[in-house]
Amino acid sequence: MKIPSIKGFHDVLPGESRRWAGLEARARAVFEQYNFHEIRLPIVERTELFQRSIGETTDIVEKEMYGFTDRDGSALSLRPEGTASVIRAYVEHALHAQEPVSKLYYFGPMFRRERPQKGRLRQFSQIGAELIGREDPAADAEVLLLLHDLLADFGIADAEVQVNTLGDATCRPAYRTALIAWGRAHRSELCEDCVRRLEQNPLRLLDCKQPGCTALRPSAPRMVDHACEPCRAHFERVLALLAGEGIEPRLQPYMVRGLDYYVRTAFEVIGRGLGAQSALGGGGRYDGLVRDLGGPDIAGIGFALGVERLAMVLATGSAAEPAGPEFVIAPLGALAEPAATALAHRLRRAGARVDLEPGGRSLKSQMRHAAKLGARYVIILGEDELASGTLTVRDMEAKLDRRQAASLRATADELRAALATPDPGLERRA
Ligand code: HAM
Repeated sequence: MKIPSIKGFHDVLPGESRRWAGLEARARAVFEQYNFHEIRLPIVERTELFQRSIGETTDIVEKEMYGFTDRDGSALSLRPEGTASVIRAYVEHALHAQEPVSKLYYFGPMFRRERPQKGRLRQFSQIGAELIGREDPAADAEVLLLLHDLLADFGIADAEVQVNTLGDATCRPAYRTALIAWGRAHRSELCEDCVRRLEQNPLRLLDCKQPGCTALRPSAPRMVDHACEPCRAHFERVLALLAGEGIEPRLQPYMVRGLDYYVRTAFEVIGRGLGAQSALGGGGRYDGLVRDLGGPDIAGIGFALGVERLAMVLATGSAAEPAGPEFVIAPLGALAEPAATALAHRLRRAGARVDLEPGGRSLKSQMRHAAKLGARYVIILGEDELASGTLTVRDMEAKLDRRQAASLRATADELRAALATPDPGLERRA
């Protein structure tokens, strides 16, 4: 009996994991350029952390969390996102007392019990960044520029960044009232969920994907039109700073995001060719969150990108095939195995990528396998080579065999030097 994996939980196999590693390496490089530092966080937190930050009436907290009661009775949950944990750690370790501004990034799995479909998993992975300790619009511009540079370095040229302002504690209550009034006026046209949302969390009305509700949306009031003067000035300054860099995100006045902690600037990255789950990433400002989680009144802004969705976008593009090993060592028979093991070990210690074939197969099948691996050179170790202490090397690109290209004791550099010097006396067509 086979034991299958769980619905919505995927394995990332070697071909795919290479693409992931490439994404993470490039992300790390860009984060370091912006002087962000990595933070590694636990995957399990107290459920209360997510209730208080993401919001009790959000879909995530209401129906998507993987929660359980620990043996000591505490309510714990697998994290559905990273920001809450970053701020929990920021407060717990009083990072604000060490430096006025913290710039943190993270990679890792998140868990949401959503209905699985293309691009939507129950365990998925995020690349995220948080800039904590600045409330000025230049910080928003910095984070959006970082996001822009990340996408460019990943080779994703056609994603669209959409922005909105969500107002703050001063102006959002009046907007909320306007939204409720609008919703009540259209009550009979709203879906069942939205009728419930109307009183509990009216901003969620703008997030509904039901055709009836989306058709109604253009008549809804817009936050931009209700923003107080400081919120409006903040938003305009962010957009002006970005425009100075030639970046003009699209204004999406009905974007509200699925988490309740946002204020002012909010944004999403929409990818092409992803179907219904088109958001590659999202983020925004969360100025009250540090305070709500027991810390001082410190502002913050950040974003997270979904790694599976990034990989899907890149898979349809021209993701370069990873290079094969530099050397494949093909021992012919058990007698050649000790010499083959020693040579492979020496070359690997010298930094070369080496694959060592098992000795019991024919030269032909070893060659076929080496070609499949994408080897640059195959080193053949048979009886003749062992007796004379030399190597036969097949150059897989030039399709040449070179006898005595180097001795059995050659270092990686000597071997490379010997192979780089053509010697027709030693070569024959493979
Ligand atoms: P979010 O929009 O909930 O934001 O998630 C960010 C990204 O994670 C999404 O755009 C998507 O690419 C990916 N994602 C979310 N759910 C799934 C899923 N079920 N399957 C696959 N991918 C998924 C946040 O999580 C915020 N913490 C972002 C943030 C950071 N805001 C401020 N700082």
